[in-house]
Amino acid sequence: MTNKYIKQINCSDYQELSGRAAALVADIVKKQPKARLGLPTGSTPIGMYKILGEMNLDFSLCHTFNLDEYAGLASSDKRSYRAFMQEQLFSRINLPESGIHFLNGTAQDLEKECRRYDEELERLGPLNLQILGMGLNGHIGFNEPADSFIPQAHIQPLSPSTIKANSRFFNQESEVPRQALTMGVAPIMRAEKILLLICGKEKCALLEKALSGPITPKLPVSLLQLHSNVTIITCTKDQA
Ligand code: GLP
Repeated sequence: MTNKYIKQINCSDYQELSGRAAALVADIVKKQPKARLGLPTGSTPIGMYKILGEMNLDFSLCHTFNLDEYAGLASSDKRSYRAFMQEQLFSRINLPESGIHFLNGTAQDLEKECRRYDEELERLGPLNLQILGMGLNGHIGFNEPADSFIPQAHIQPLSPSTIKANSRFFNQESEVPRQALTMGVAPIMRAEKILLLICGKEKCALLEKALSGPITPKLPVSLLQLHSNVTIITCTKDQA
């Protein structure tokens, strides 16, 4: 049975995917100047961030919450997700520092840091839009395949396949942190709308399996079957 709450847009290439994703985000920011946006890292959203940076949108009243951060990497470390976001988006838009919300991978007490992040998410209210990418093992944020879904922010050991896949952002695989902090699935599922970006043949095939098969924490993205407002933008062609 098709899921009427999931809208899928298939693009012919990465450029089109990026343009459509940016247009959807821009529409929300224009209609809701105080929009609360959940943001992903990874290669897939880079094109969308670039276009958003060129659109001259007003982010001055927005709040962004990034999905995750590596444990042990300071925001000043160029390999951190905080630094990635600075380079790809924050340096190009007028979002004030006070509107940027991030898990701190070098907090003294990482458990406490996760509670702080959940409280901040609670305090500001549900996200208007959660943008997601997907790992090659179906992870969302850093919610890795597991025996159960974890609703709250948590410390997540990274799977060998994720460490390998993400090593392209590091000099060598041994440099990739073995743990990360991630938003749990509750704020993701509580977002008014979810935008999932999927690029490449392998990921498209995995997505199809996740959306047509059982909802299982072994394939975290399958949980999106239970959300009532999901847009998925895909392209089977690899990102150039
Ligand atoms: C990382 C991030 C995820 C992201 C995934 C896919 O693991 N923690 O949030 O979705 O990478 O990244 P890419 O778009 O580079 O394939």
